[in-house]
Amino acid sequence: MSSQLNIPSGVVPEPLLSVRNLQVGIVGAKRLVHGVSFELHAGATLGIVGESGSGKSLTCHALLGILPTGLAVTGGSALYRGADLTRLNRRGWKPLRGTRISAVFQDPASYLNPSIPVGRQLAEALRCSLKLSRSQARERGLELLKKIGLRHAEAVYCQYPFELSGGMLQRVLIAIAVCAGPELLIADEATTALDVTVQAEVLDLLAELKRELNLALVLVSHDLAVVAQVCDQVIVMRHGVIIEAGTTAQVLADPKHPYTRSLVDNHQEYGLERFLEREMEDA
Ligand SMILES: Nc1ncnc2c1ncn2[C@@H]1O[C@H](COP(=O)(O)OP(=O)(O)O)[C@@H](O)[C@H]1O
Ligand SMILES: [Mg+2]
Repeated sequence: MSSQLNIPSGVVPEPLLSVRNLQVGIVGAKRLVHGVSFELHAGATLGIVGESGSGKSLTCHALLGILPTGLAVTGGSALYRGADLTRLNRRGWKPLRGTRISAVFQDPASYLNPSIPVGRQLAEALRCSLKLSRSQARERGLELLKKIGLRHAEAVYCQYPFELSGGMLQRVLIAIAVCAGPELLIADEATTALDVTVQAEVLDLLAELKRELNLALVLVSHDLAVVAQVCDQVIVMRHGVIIEAGTTAQVLADPKHPYTRSLVDNHQEYGLERFLEREMEDA
């Protein structure tokens, strides 16, 4: 399924997403995100890490064109294949959101209809985005449920959201998010509500889907260990500003900013050391 780009050697491909000096604020009042910039290439992974309130979600919501009422992009741009995502209207978003650019968030249950079996909701997404017939959508939906690691996919297909665990629901949401074969997936605290083991499994799933679908992944977490597990590049945000950016290996091994250093130090006891050890071995 992965797309093979045919690029002559020596030519650096354009980034898939180029975010420049992105600013978000309360309309007519204060600014909350003060100029975020990064580039993301096809198939690459970027982690956005930072304490609660640092502007991670607003950055994501601005990129997805889903800022809440009262908030707006007040400067900068986010170029995706030549289109500035910050300037698209509803019509401009139609062929992109959920199809080329998808997202998963923290609380999967709130994105599903509680009174419809999850399989039907997945099939509906497939029918809408890929124009499949009912039976094709059911078949493809079952395949997807198996692919995202749900055992007893046939049984799960017919179950209601309340019958599934948080980890299973998040897998279903991920299946819905990738069902149309997007190029870019934004996962904002997608594993935060899950317990540690399930979190690791869902991160493995994201990493596997990224490889298989050549997805560009923006993984947002307040937890540096989560981001380190999956991402090649990382940006660290605080108070709406990027305070540090680099490869995950660089940032972990040699954090420049005292805040980043505190994130790394505080994590020694939570298992970040295995990433640090791995980076040391690779060095
Ligand atoms: N709808 C809103 N109205 C006003 N302020 C908001 C709104 N949403 C978020 N903020 C503020 O913007 C800042 C960044 O929020 P957010 O991006 O959600 O942080 P994070 O995702 O990093 O925890 C916080 O100070 C938060 O209080
Ligand atoms: Mg957030």
